[in-house]
Amino acid sequence: MAHLLHIDASPRGERSHSRRLTKDFINQWQQQHPHDTITYRDIGRHPVPHVDEAWIAAAFTPPEQHTPQLHEAIRLSDQLVDEFLAADVYLFGIPMYNFSIPSGFKAYIDQIVRVGRTVAFEPSDAGNAFRPLVLGKKMFIIEARGDSGFQPGGRYAQMNYHDPYLTTVFGFIGITDITFIHVENNEYGGQKLAESIAKAQAQIASLVAL
Ligand SMILES: Cc1cc2nc3c(=O)[nH]c(=O)nc-3n(C[C@H](O)[C@H](O)[C@H](O)COP(=O)(O)O)c2cc1C
Repeated sequence: MAHLLHIDASPRGERSHSRRLTKDFINQWQQQHPHDTITYRDIGRHPVPHVDEAWIAAAFTPPEQHTPQLHEAIRLSDQLVDEFLAADVYLFGIPMYNFSIPSGFKAYIDQIVRVGRTVAFEPSDAGNAFRPLVLGKKMFIIEARGDSGFQPGGRYAQMNYHDPYLTTVFGFIGITDITFIHVENNEYGGQKLAESIAKAQAQIASLVAL
């Protein structure tokens, strides 16, 4: 039995392709894994705050030295990290915005990538001071794009700061088993979009059946 954390990052509702496909994924997952449990978080509709000065002071002060103010400043982040660490499998629906991720999802990442909680900082002369702490997890990312051609070798490959960024930041905390599912050509609609949706749906069906 596994626990899944499902997050939608699109601010759109019914019109969101990433949302519709994460919903398909979850429906199929529940059929294949009826005993698994799921936590849902809607970042697109209910954004988490950006980090601020009090948050930074709290994050870099040992918890036993926290004043009530610092404790309060980091409370939501602690809850988000607890929720993140409780999951074995992640399903994130994340649009491409200006070649990267929506700022709401970046705010979430800044809340959960935490020294001492999801990554250890151990300075030494020997080499890399960072040691990832989130190990043995699996992640699925459904990415919606208006255009296409962002894959390696594609006409916009060098402008893609979405998949490479997510691979880097989640790899930094230890999550290396990441599968991307792309739904593209939302801006074109018609046959191009229909083909992309069908391809994404087929990929979801085969991934969930594994
Ligand atoms: C602010 C904004 C920026 C966008 N930037 C890009 C982009 O850089 N590349 C792209 O292909 N599509 C871009 N799009 C189109 C979205 O990626 C596309 O509409 C996608 O389907 C949105 O996800 P959703 O359907 O889950 O809401 C952008 C849309 C918005 C609203």
